[in-house]
Amino acid sequence: MTTLTLVQGDITRQHADAIVNAANSSLLGGGGVDGAIHRRGGPAVLAECRALRASRYGKGLPTGRAVATTAGELDARWVIHTVGPVYSPTEDRSDLLASCYRESLRVADELGARTVAFPAISTGVYRWPVEDAARIAVEAVRSTPTAVEEVRFVLFDERAYEAFARQTG
Ligand code: APR
Repeated sequence: MTTLTLVQGDITRQHADAIVNAANSSLLGGGGVDGAIHRRGGPAVLAECRALRASRYGKGLPTGRAVATTAGELDARWVIHTVGPVYSPTEDRSDLLASCYRESLRVADELGARTVAFPAISTGVYRWPVEDAARIAVEAVRSTPTAVEEVRFVLFDERAYEAFARQTG
């Protein structure tokens, strides 16, 4: 039975077995969560991302997929990097966003992670409306069989927190 919890705060300050990064396909860092995780996780995280680019993911990590690296200096054992879809008003990419959560849980199960912290994937630079993103996130987690015991959504601001609270209420 997986418990869903909500926290308002900075995901890089969370203690969890795995912290999920809202990455881009390059895996080489960026702004938002990505920037914060690399800043606080330190060079070991980027070093492993580079190794992934030099091996399994030569062309980058496709949207909707997930891959784990060390968490470096973060208070976690792993970072699970996943690439959210950019929001499109004309093309329904909901399944790609749901896939980020499903695939991250699959990777967490492979690792044996029992607690996983997620940001609100795609709701920043990728402009996904947070209410809809929260609905997709909660639905995806609730419909994915996993051994993960706690899924913690870590929301950076009040608006995102309220949106997720409405979906998990
Ligand atoms: N902790 C928790 N949540 C955060 C943090 C943080 N430290 N920083 C930002 N957020 C929130 C944002 O407010 C937003 O709600 O995470 C959500 C996702 O925003 P982004 O980090 O912009 O991620 P995303 O929209 O998926 O865009 C990914 O942005 O940073 C680049 O390299 C990244 O190209 C990729 C793109």
